[in-house]
Amino acid sequence: MHIKSAEFVISNSEVAKCPKDILPEYAFIGRSNVGKSSLINMLTNRKSLAKTSGRPGKTQLINHFIINKNWFLVDLPGYGYARVSKKEKKVFQKFITNYFEKRKQLVLAFVLVDCRLEPQKIDREFMYYLGENSIPFSIIFTKADKLKPSELEENIAHYKSVLLEDWEELPQYFITSSSKRIGQKELLNYINEINKSLK
Ligand code: GTP
Ligand code: MG
Repeated sequence: MHIKSAEFVISNSEVAKCPKDILPEYAFIGRSNVGKSSLINMLTNRKSLAKTSGRPGKTQLINHFIINKNWFLVDLPGYGYARVSKKEKKVFQKFITNYFEKRKQLVLAFVLVDCRLEPQKIDREFMYYLGENSIPFSIIFTKADKLKPSELEENIAHYKSVLLEDWEELPQYFITSSSKRIGQKELLNYINEINKSLK
């Protein structure tokens, strides 16, 4: 798929205020700092469409971007960000779960995980939550540039074996690096195929 246009539409914390357009929508979720916003920029060939930062907790709202005027990418805040208070965390979790449970246009969630890390409890729990709510998801391994090919292969194999403790079938997964621009074509093709199947 060729990206002809990618535009910011709106940021907010209420699912009721998200765009009303009935267009297929793909959300990026995962722990703070995993690389959600960077990946959106890489996918769309834009340097700073989504705001990124070395410090976790950069994205605080639900951000809609319209791509080629016919589908949405959604950048979400990260979960598991320790520097906010418990109360803030609750409020925040509520608007995220509201988004996932109420947003009818949502076609698929991409759960981003750092390829360097052991499967994290919070990610496994979030995937479980998506499953319970019948929300389709795929996994995106991020920051592949940080590992040697052999380490990457080992980590992915390990991740898969852990996933098979929770799931009968492995979800679709992608290996990406925003800095080395790995995985762009695969992800855009995947989204394109889903968009076509919805027509
Ligand atoms: P929050 O909005 O805080 O939840 O974070 P996020 O998941 O949106 O992460 P963001 O895209 O802001 O990236 C976090 C940090 O990781 C930044 O310093 C990025 O430059 C870095 N980063 C993101 N993707 C990659 C990647 O593929 N490779 C490398 N080496 N660094 C990356
Ligand atoms: Mg972000």
